[in-house]
Amino acid sequence: MLAVKAPKREAEKIRKKLIELGVLAKGYAVRREGEFVLFPITEEVEDFELVEADFKKLERRPRSYREVVEVPDGVRPLLPSSFDIIGDIAIIELPEELMGYGNAIGEAILEVHRHIKAVFAKGSKVEGEYRVRELIHLAGEMRTGTLHRENGIRLKLDVAKVYFSPRLATERMRVFEKARPGEVVFDMFAGVGPYSILLAKKARFVFAVDLNPWAIKYLEENIRLNRADNVVPILGDVRKVAGKVEADRVIMNLPKFADRFLREAMLSVGDGGVIHYYGFGPEEDLYSEHEAKIKAIARELGFTVEILERRKVRPYAPRQFNIAIDFRVLK
Ligand SMILES: C[S@@+](CC[C@H](N)C(=O)[O-])C[C@H]1O[C@@H](n2cnc3c(N)ncnc32)[C@H](O)[C@@H]1O
Repeated sequence: MLAVKAPKREAEKIRKKLIELGVLAKGYAVRREGEFVLFPITEEVEDFELVEADFKKLERRPRSYREVVEVPDGVRPLLPSSFDIIGDIAIIELPEELMGYGNAIGEAILEVHRHIKAVFAKGSKVEGEYRVRELIHLAGEMRTGTLHRENGIRLKLDVAKVYFSPRLATERMRVFEKARPGEVVFDMFAGVGPYSILLAKKARFVFAVDLNPWAIKYLEENIRLNRADNVVPILGDVRKVAGKVEADRVIMNLPKFADRFLREAMLSVGDGGVIHYYGFGPEEDLYSEHEAKIKAIARELGFTVEILERRKVRPYAPRQFNIAIDFRVLK
């Protein structure tokens, strides 16, 4: 095919020019010949030395596991278009009809996403006080411990022993951006520390509580890993700690049950303190029920609240959303 013969030292400049002219042929490996580089082109161009040459066609790497997985045509439309990646572990939600093809799906994910080393299917909903789920091994290494990076921090965790959702990274960054330097933060349901360790970059102290001993073990490791020495990890029920701290900012990331801890949260902020409340709400009325509870508890305690922001965090179930309400407590 037609090619431009470029001296090696000008190759990059010429490559950019050919792209600019829209004539660089895509999908071929460039050729190096001594002091020259040959670029395949789609049509003649002026001002360059042109030659005829053969080029090796580049194999296009598949972008999705769905391009390579072998499953019967009947179930192919059911293949999920996305899955969670936590560190080097993939966790996919498979409908019942695909569970029999779990290994093929897992192997296809490993083939296409080279950085993934183990694939699991969700085996249950997030359950219990620790908010963890069963996992079913599909392919790759039989391991659930990993190192996840988000928002510039590193988090060690075990996906089978603690709650962690990579889908909350943007929400955590939103809260971080609201925080002001020198604050005292109370992370009521801290898990392995994705909020606590991020907020520690601005805060004076972060009190980080969790009931799950595995979460606190990893939180302690993550404090060391990120040198977040101003995070105070506390193992136990948050009800025992609440009211003993006077925070500027409280994070209530336990959407399933946060409403049961509103009293504790409000007793743990100083006058003007901000609470980041999470819940689940139906699409047709996301916030009313939660706001009614927030106002009722504030009234009981003799406080008033000012709603600062409401937002959908992510879809949770059909027609259900994980929502966030930020509010200020005036005492
Ligand atoms: C939804 S997870 C959130 C974890 C973390 N904030 C994150 O974003 O990954 C809720 C956490 O609250 C903890 N938890 C549940 N009830 C608790 C309680 N009464 N006191 C302290 N922690 C609790 C669970 O063990 C779990 O780690």
